[in-house]
Amino acid sequence: MDAITMIKERRSVRNFKKKKVDRETMKEIVSISRWAPSWANYQIARYTLVDNGETIKKLATDGVKGFVYNINTLKNAPGVAVLSFVKGKSGKLDEDGEYATSKANVWEVFDAGIACQTFCLAAYAKGVATCVMGVIDDDSISEIVGLPDNETVAALIVYGYEEGHPGPTPRKDVDDIMRFVEA
Ligand SMILES: Cc1cc2nc3c(=O)[nH]c(=O)nc-3n(C[C@H](O)[C@H](O)[C@H](O)COP(=O)(O)O)c2cc1C
Repeated sequence: MDAITMIKERRSVRNFKKKKVDRETMKEIVSISRWAPSWANYQIARYTLVDNGETIKKLATDGVKGFVYNINTLKNAPGVAVLSFVKGKSGKLDEDGEYATSKANVWEVFDAGIACQTFCLAAYAKGVATCVMGVIDDDSISEIVGLPDNETVAALIVYGYEEGHPGPTPRKDVDDIMRFVEA
């Protein structure tokens, strides 16, 4: 699959076949995701994979603030990646120093976002569908999966084999989102 097709045809998938994705495949997808760029190459993204039904049920009950749309997706998802990141590094030129720009620690979320899309594209290239979830309860998820104290949750990414490929979602016209600076 070429890169442009991959970028344009990846969709958020919320309906999955019952079949689990094997752990080797998921390891390969995370391995590919490591090639995402990151602030000072600190590589702060972490991936905690959940593929047992009981824990996924718990994530649905306690991890998405009762948002029914996400509860329903989680109910039929065979796998969930908890994307987290190591706090307090990105944004600094020296890991133990001061933040280098006015965005301060926002760069850690930026890194997580790049890691997130890289994971979703790598998964798509391997035939695994994903959906990013931002309506989540970070603290509750951290507790359910036992995240280390120096990490915080960035997003949930449900994954599995899709039950039908969703049609394209609308995009803004290119002229509405770009401008050239004239001399
Ligand atoms: C940061 C972020 C948060 C999102 N949160 C949710 C969510 O909580 N639940 C959900 O079903 N989809 C969620 N989505 C998926 C978006 O709705 C989806 O990407 C968008 O509608 C475009 O559709 P597409 O991904 O199929 O191109 C989220 C996507 C992003 C990038």
